[in-house]
Amino acid sequence: MGEASGPISVTVARTLDQWMQAMAVRTEVYIGEQDYAFGEEFDGADLAGATHFIARLGVEPVGACRVRWYAGFAKLERVAVKRAHRSGHVVRALWRAVADLASRKGYALVLGHIERSLLPFWQRSAGFEPRSTRPSYWFAGREFVEALAPLARHPYAIDIESPANALLVCEAELSAPAPLRVAS
Ligand SMILES: CC(C)(COP(=O)(O)OP(=O)(O)OC[C@H]1O[C@@H](n2cnc3c(N)ncnc32)[C@H](O)[C@@H]1OP(=O)(O)O)[C@@H](O)C(=O)NCCC(=O)NCCS
Repeated sequence: MGEASGPISVTVARTLDQWMQAMAVRTEVYIGEQDYAFGEEFDGADLAGATHFIARLGVEPVGACRVRWYAGFAKLERVAVKRAHRSGHVVRALWRAVADLASRKGYALVLGHIERSLLPFWQRSAGFEPRSTRPSYWFAGREFVEALAPLARHPYAIDIESPANALLVCEAELSAPAPLRVAS
């Protein structure tokens, strides 16, 4: 059995082995546990347009999610926590990292397509509210609802007036706790 103990940390994948850690967690949870077909889970977006987050206990990956970025909103997807580590702590750490990076990138809204049965959980833990004007839809035998979580403005939010070197920083560094470098 793998060793998963120590403090929780969340990072953005910036290397192939880190990306594989996120895929390993997702595969175990969605295909192994939830019985999604490979083609339902791996939709072609993982190498094009997505930012992947990995949650670790000590060095061991135990949670993952991805975010895709659209004009005006970020879309949270594929949140997964390994069964043995579902206490709420890991998913909250993932959400904090997602909300922090999205707000630092200037986003004020995160969209989720949430399994209806999990809506109360996401309302409680991340402030998502269902979009009353939008229909639910079915995918892989499950009903999903669209929900939005508003984000507080980040003190170092990037915008078109940000100094050039703020835009040279990669997302893995942007999601680290240190504030953005500013132009000297
Ligand atoms: C969703 C998830 C990330 C939450 O992580 P967590 O908080 O550590 O996990 P828990 O199992 O403690 O679930 C949190 C709550 O959601 C509920 N829940 C979990 N899965 C659920 C499901 N499929 N349907 C209904 N409720 C569910 C739990 O009963 C729990 O409720 P409680 O707080 O009232 O006890 C984790 O359950 C997971 O990885 N699930 C499989 C993948 C998934 O469904 N992702 C979300 C897609 S929208």
